[in-house]
Amino acid sequence: MAKKSSKRGNPSMSISNKDVVAVQVVEKAGVNVKKLVDMLIRGVGAEFTTYYYYTILRMHCTGLEGEGIKEIVEDARIEDRNHFEAMTPRIYELGGSLPRDIREFADLSACPDAYLPKDWTDIKEIIKVLLAAEQCAIKSWGQVCEMTYGKDPRTYDIAQNIMQEEIEHEAWFLELLYGRPSAHFRRRFIGESPHVHKQLHTTH
Ligand SMILES: [Fe+2]
Ligand SMILES: [Fe+2]
Repeated sequence: MAKKSSKRGNPSMSISNKDVVAVQVVEKAGVNVKKLVDMLIRGVGAEFTTYYYYTILRMHCTGLEGEGIKEIVEDARIEDRNHFEAMTPRIYELGGSLPRDIREFADLSACPDAYLPKDWTDIKEIIKVLLAAEQCAIKSWGQVCEMTYGKDPRTYDIAQNIMQEEIEHEAWFLELLYGRPSAHFRRRFIGESPHVHKQLHTTH
């Protein structure tokens, strides 16, 4: 008979990871699945809270340059939401689950809160906050890639696709702040997610 799941697991589930072959192959390959699930929850927590904070940050991109910057922030905002959507199902496949309470979820975030700066009328101060959030995301998904490379191809595939978009987001904000060319050209549509789209279960 299968054991009850862990504290984070869905209480209605009666199957433990010991009975799931897709989890066992990952453990057998040398991944600490519990540790990985914790990292994934923190990672998607950062994506979800970033999506929220970017809504506020985008709103405050005002002034003569504001409208163009808003469009770039909007792409990053929706793609970060896509990252939450793309990785969350993997947490459940690995026997984990999101915290029942969204407050706990926000506190677990792998990255600091991307608060609106006090001097937000200087648009560069807003872009600095956006840049720091992207740089934190690169580090966080990089750790997941490191942990799963050659061991858990499914998690690795999602994480590395997310990371490719985070790297692009960092480059966009570096260009806006310092004029460092990023080869940025507008997405074909808002939140296109050219790397992550195949892992999305939603199409909106
Ligand atoms: Fe993201
Ligand atoms: Fe991002």
